[in-house]
Amino acid sequence: MTNYSPNSYPQPTTKRRVDSGGPDFYPTPRWATQALVDYEFFEGLTSEPACGDGEMAIVLIEVGLNITASDLYARNYGRTGVDFLKTTIVFDNIITNPPYNIAEEFLLHALSLTKKKVALLLRLAFLESSRRQRNIFQEFPPSRIWVFSERVTFYPKGEERASGGTTAYAWFVWDHADLDNELARQNIPQVKWIPLGRKPNSRKAFKSTIGAKLTLSDLLP
Ligand SMILES: C[S@@+](CC[C@H](N)C(=O)[O-])C[C@H]1O[C@@H](n2cnc3c(N)ncnc32)[C@H](O)[C@@H]1O
Repeated sequence: MTNYSPNSYPQPTTKRRVDSGGPDFYPTPRWATQALVDYEFFEGLTSEPACGDGEMAIVLIEVGLNITASDLYARNYGRTGVDFLKTTIVFDNIITNPPYNIAEEFLLHALSLTKKKVALLLRLAFLESSRRQRNIFQEFPPSRIWVFSERVTFYPKGEERASGGTTAYAWFVWDHADLDNELARQNIPQVKWIPLGRKPNSRKAFKSTIGAKLTLSDLLP
């Protein structure tokens, strides 16, 4: 296992380990995908264009979404050998956890190929940098940012553990309905929090209702 330190921009805030199966293969824990679909509504044809071995796509299919899954590398799931950045097929939605060293390119390409929503699981630090402000946020502000109250821990396949992570992540959701409407644009982005208790082995009970009223004990560490 080696340290992950790509030379390309943007670099992760913390070093990540690279698996032996190819660059940036970090399957998303089920609970993190489930949290997205519990709070965001998706309908129509949806692509998971960096599907890895299907950890995220399987959850999306289970909740009833019409998913097309692909990846550049062969990981025994979906179509393989598909470089998302070279694809031209239009979908209603794109949902993925992209390779972080080309997350910016993934986002801009995803926006150009979608009619409804783009949802990317990204480091919260994606919000930073004058370059992204110029290249992305000025023209394409996200509609919602769903910050994980409990940290998502990513490990190479087979090494998932229940420990806390050191990096903050969020679901960033771009909704074309907001981007295409001058009035709606003025009220975005909205920052929301995925409640405590979603993560397996969490000490907090899962609050199933959106906007559920939290008690003081829910907020204590
Ligand atoms: C962080 S992993 C996420 C896997 C999966 N989306 C999940 O959440 O479980 C990123 C994936 O992007 C794939 N990938 C890297 N570059 C790609 C590209 N240009 N086009 C499509 N997939 C790519 C990698 O092979 C890897 O499986």
